Amino acid sequence: MAAARTTRTLHFDSAGISEAAAILKAGGLVAFPTETVYGLGANALDATAARGIFIAKGRPADDPLIVHLLAAAQLRSVARPSDNALALAERFWPGPLTLVLPKLSHVPDVVTAGLSTVAVRVPAHPVAQELLGACELPLAAPSANLFGRPSPTRAAHVLEDLDGRIDAVLDGGPTDIGVESTIVDLSTAEPRLLRAGGLPAEDIEAALGLPLLAALASERPLAPGMLPSHYAPHTPLVLITGPAARDRLHAEASSALQQGQRVGMLLLLDDDAPAQTTVQALGAYADPRASATRLFDALRSLDRQRLDILFTRELADPTTDLGRALADRLRRAATRVIET
Ligand code: TXA
Ligand code: MG
Repeated sequence: MAAARTTRTLHFDSAGISEAAAILKAGGLVAFPTETVYGLGANALDATAARGIFIAKGRPADDPLIVHLLAAAQLRSVARPSDNALALAERFWPGPLTLVLPKLSHVPDVVTAGLSTVAVRVPAHPVAQELLGACELPLAAPSANLFGRPSPTRAAHVLEDLDGRIDAVLDGGPTDIGVESTIVDLSTAEPRLLRAGGLPAEDIEAALGLPLLAALASERPLAPGMLPSHYAPHTPLVLITGPAARDRLHAEASSALQQGQRVGMLLLLDDDAPAQTTVQALGAYADPRASATRLFDALRSLDRQRLDILFTRELADPTTDLGRALADRLRRAATRVIET
């Protein structure tokens, strides 16, 4: 159990940024916005501070953290970058890309869960940039949710999970991308995609001139929300995929209503839902970016309404662009998948 703390909400003006930086320098925990989701930050070079992140989130110690830097120029302060790493950093940072690289020995084991690699990224959000500049520290930061819950895209989501467990949240408004960064392992000769995310894998492959290999099965327990049940609402979520998904969604929801269940629907813009269901509508099928921005907020919002069951369907083409990340997050959030 995390020791009780008073969690302050700080505004993203210069006073708020200075206060947040002071807390981090003193070894505290501050949640802050990035362009993907809110992160829960601590000094990445202070093992005690970083341990606090695991306690606050209820996160298992074998799940390593991402180290956030102010600029690509600082990469060599924590890792040994390959030529591919330097090329991707130059092309995509600041931005929603995390690189896994051989680590330098002064990065504490608690941050990397004892691995010989470290995950690194340079966030693009102006508030994250100002905070990294003000504290002059690399910040270890996982998503600022309780372990297993949907990632937070607003300060209110952070407080929903972590109020009383962290020192402060820096409120920079809703995040833009809404799903986490894309993670690429460059620690071996062959680049691997460990997690689909905010930067399309195609863009990375184009920049490398190489296809990205899939994660090795043995990497699964170590990598991103790679646990099958993750990003999950408390209410059971049924995901319906395949060509008949839209009709089946309607039929499943109607039948649950007939059984007296309270039903929530996570839908695309022009889907229609049976009357008496509680609906959260995302983007159009062809617009995965719009759906990604709202996905976790919509899941959390349905989860607060004490419904019995939630239904959703594939939200975009799962083979390309942000559709890959959407498909991955929904599968991990779902308690059951119905293929039509
Ligand atoms: O967009 C994001 O990436 C957000 C923001 C806050 O930056 N962060 C985020 O962190 O999603 P987190 O901890 O929720 O997910 C990062 C994942 C972890 O689940 C972990 O398994 C993986 O990155 N990871 C970290 N270090 C790794 C390493 N050395 N090797 C393989 N996977 C690693
Ligand atoms: Mg996470």
